[in-house]
Amino acid sequence: MSSLFRKKSLDQLMLESQTKRLSRSLNTFDLILLGIGCVVGTGIFVITGVAAANDAGPAIIISFILAAIACALAAFCYAEFSSSIPVSGSVYTYSYATLGEFLAFLMGWDLMLEYVIALSAVASGWSSYFQSLLSGFGLHIPKALSAAPGAADGAVFNLPGALIILLITFIVSRGVKESTKLNNIIVLIKIAIVLLFIISGFAYVKPENWTPFMPMGFHGVIAGAATVFFAYLGFDAIANASEEVKNPQKAMPIGIIGALGVCTILYIGVSFVLTGMVHYTKLNVSDPVAFALQVVGLNSVAGIISAGAIIGITTVLIALVYAQVRLTFAMSRDGLMPKIFSNVHPKSKTPVANTWLTGAVASCIVGFVNLSTLANLVSIGTLAAFTVISIAVIVLRKKHPNMNTAFKVPFVPVLPIISAVICMILAFTLKWETWRAFLIWIVIGVVVYFTYARRKSHLNETH
Ligand code: ALA
Repeated sequence: MSSLFRKKSLDQLMLESQTKRLSRSLNTFDLILLGIGCVVGTGIFVITGVAAANDAGPAIIISFILAAIACALAAFCYAEFSSSIPVSGSVYTYSYATLGEFLAFLMGWDLMLEYVIALSAVASGWSSYFQSLLSGFGLHIPKALSAAPGAADGAVFNLPGALIILLITFIVSRGVKESTKLNNIIVLIKIAIVLLFIISGFAYVKPENWTPFMPMGFHGVIAGAATVFFAYLGFDAIANASEEVKNPQKAMPIGIIGALGVCTILYIGVSFVLTGMVHYTKLNVSDPVAFALQVVGLNSVAGIISAGAIIGITTVLIALVYAQVRLTFAMSRDGLMPKIFSNVHPKSKTPVANTWLTGAVASCIVGFVNLSTLANLVSIGTLAAFTVISIAVIVLRKKHPNMNTAFKVPFVPVLPIISAVICMILAFTLKWETWRAFLIWIVIGVVVYFTYARRKSHLNETH
């Protein structure tokens, strides 16, 4: 039994991070842009429309605010962990040091689901805007290859979605470094096109489109929040950069909250204008932002926005491939996943096999599964991770009360408890199908842990 709770030592982790020493080159502004780069993508450009049509109606604006509050609370917990255990690595590493191996493995297993499915979901949004742009030039992809089955009549496979993932996989596997400068430029383009939509669409807002404001009641608003939660995902990338930040003490919390704040304002602006331009019942389309502009005759603005969305969504795809590869790399290095995930290619010095496995699986998924199924799965995986991280903060404080933490969550344990409760409430509004898929994945994880990971763990003395 005790082996389930064996932990990586905090001292060891700190030592590892000190010997590795990355250069501290990022400032708060870079951090905020890094966050926005990983966050603003398919969520706002596609899911806003789906969630307004199916769940919340125009009250999707409130859903976005609720989801932002849930994320902000979880973000505080992330910030405490990343500043007290400043090793690159995700919640998986933090859990290994505080909650023990079994929960850490399940956490990693859960995040694997989250990252791979998110990669597929984001690629699906990319594919929609790519096709929207092509159609502006009179070009159309054959119906059968335009979307996943069920997403459109006659659709069999989402070819553009699968191809963009393979292209990104190729780029990442070549060892291309994430470039702060390039990221900053792309993020500024992304913010510019979101503002372009808000400003150009504003004149076409008809207040009568906002009635009824809450067609599916408050329950619909909460269900909408659970779905659009997806749109905020990615800010944990900021926490992962803690080792590369100047003055992390101040910069981390400002970076996380700043990025979330900017995204929330942009999201509220977009959902306000979008639901004002077109009645929510018509928004269940794959490219709602471009669609709304076309409805009011702003075709060239729609074209510019589709092009900007394609560029902007690409940075989210790159961030997700990195997140997935780093996670499985760390798990494999600890012995909890097969060695192939941490094999580094001698030439490119990157985990090539791991990267291609990620890309291959995600491109099959985007080919065959529709976006709303994927987005809900990502939301449930993330909500589970946020719940655990909130509880882990309380454990960390109890077990290591004197730890030198650069950033502390205020009002512990009240705030982390509120965070965990909100995440659970949101998770419980998701459909049974989503829960079933999630639970099956976790059960498989438990089996893998007991039949494989527990024996192979490097903390296993008999290994
Ligand atoms: N937040 C990311 C997006 O919306 C996953 O694309």
